[in-house]
Amino acid sequence: MTEHEASASAAPELFTWEFATDPYPAYAWLREHAPVHRTRLPSGVEAWLVTRYADAKQTLADQRLSKNPAHHDEPAHAKGRTGIPGERKAELMTHLLNIDPPDHTRLRRLVSKAFTPRRVAEFAPRVQELTDQLIAGFAARGSADLIHEFAFPLPIYAICDLLGVPREDQDDFRDWAGMMIRHGGGPRGGVARSVKKMRGYLAELIHRKREALTAEPGPGEDLISGLIRASDHGEHLTENEAAAMAFILLFAGFETTVNLIGNGMHALLTHPGQRALLQASLAAGESGLLETGVEELLRYDGPVELATWRFATEDVRIGGQDIAAGDPVLVVLAAADRDPERFQDPDTLDLSRRDLQHLGYGHGIHYCLGAPLARLEGQTALGTLLERLPDIQLAGESADLRWRGGLIMRGLRTLPVEFTPVK
Ligand code: HEM
Repeated sequence: MTEHEASASAAPELFTWEFATDPYPAYAWLREHAPVHRTRLPSGVEAWLVTRYADAKQTLADQRLSKNPAHHDEPAHAKGRTGIPGERKAELMTHLLNIDPPDHTRLRRLVSKAFTPRRVAEFAPRVQELTDQLIAGFAARGSADLIHEFAFPLPIYAICDLLGVPREDQDDFRDWAGMMIRHGGGPRGGVARSVKKMRGYLAELIHRKREALTAEPGPGEDLISGLIRASDHGEHLTENEAAAMAFILLFAGFETTVNLIGNGMHALLTHPGQRALLQASLAAGESGLLETGVEELLRYDGPVELATWRFATEDVRIGGQDIAAGDPVLVVLAAADRDPERFQDPDTLDLSRRDLQHLGYGHGIHYCLGAPLARLEGQTALGTLLERLPDIQLAGESADLRWRGGLIMRGLRTLPVEFTPVK
């Protein structure tokens, strides 16, 4: 504990049940009294938490901090038990969130050629269709669990479609992903099996698509075909790299979007004034408030509570705090996005907010590759729910809802709602 911390009121306990439900008071304390704070994570690893906006933004762009877990100065007794991705799954190491330039630059350039804003924009009608189908599944009942029946299946089917996973195989993906989200921090066996099955499936699918493209080099509409074809100065992705890339697109784009829809809807349902403004604007045929609103929901209660791991490759100083080479650093996006030094009335949800340069999608070279897809899904999902089910409300008290206690993500286990049934 630093001198500054010791002189302040007692530090809040982190990673408890109360913290998972509402971490924001603890983050406010940290921002004020211990903006770069060393803590022991539930896994036993010691890491630095960076909570102020200015420090967070600078840290995310600091190339002296590596994404490669090989830079972690990990005590021998904790080897393989820290929960740091990549340590146990060497075959997944070549994905974007675990690598640094120049490898990162090369892979990101290649994937950007396949995962273009245009491809996402052309996908809009399919996202709307999926949204409509899922709502039709519960609309006549007058009640639903929005996590299980809506927020969870929508992104998984969307990303499967985009990648080119055949429809008949998509329910397998749904089951594997369900296992990963339910047991994210829990029993390893089931999760490891699901990851293995998903990877095996993707490797085979990529192989089949590569053969099909070689036999008949056509345009190949899906993203996996795009990944196989993408080349940069004559360089292509290897099949392994393409499989790791498809996997990270699923992995990074799935639970995040579930929680954007879940947390976003929860915030709207608990702020009736803001929700009414949004419904009035949708009824008038406007999309502006929905667009800024989804960004504000990301700032206010975003899905990625902490950015993924970074490791100091040399001794560095962040926000006045010395950090030793090898130390893990976690940037707390949720805390930075409520920093009163950066945002006016940061604890107020204001869908028409103008100062919206939030860090919910990260910053710097690892800035979210899927942001255009996430925006499309978030706007379509939330806008359509409010339009189709105009009197939708929480079934029960917000205080009784259970939040998942994961480290990186923030999201609800269930979101029960009720509304006037519609045919
Ligand atoms: C990276 C947030 C949806 C793919 C990131 C990062 C954040 C983030 C904070 C940076 C992590 C870091 O620097 O440690 C979100 C949020 C989403 C979302 C809040 C939903 C609301 C998606 C979707 C996809 C996706 C839908 C793809 C289908 C990626 C990829 C990276 C990434 C591939 C790694 C980029 C790189 O390292 O170069 N995302 N994401 N994300 N995201 Fe997203």
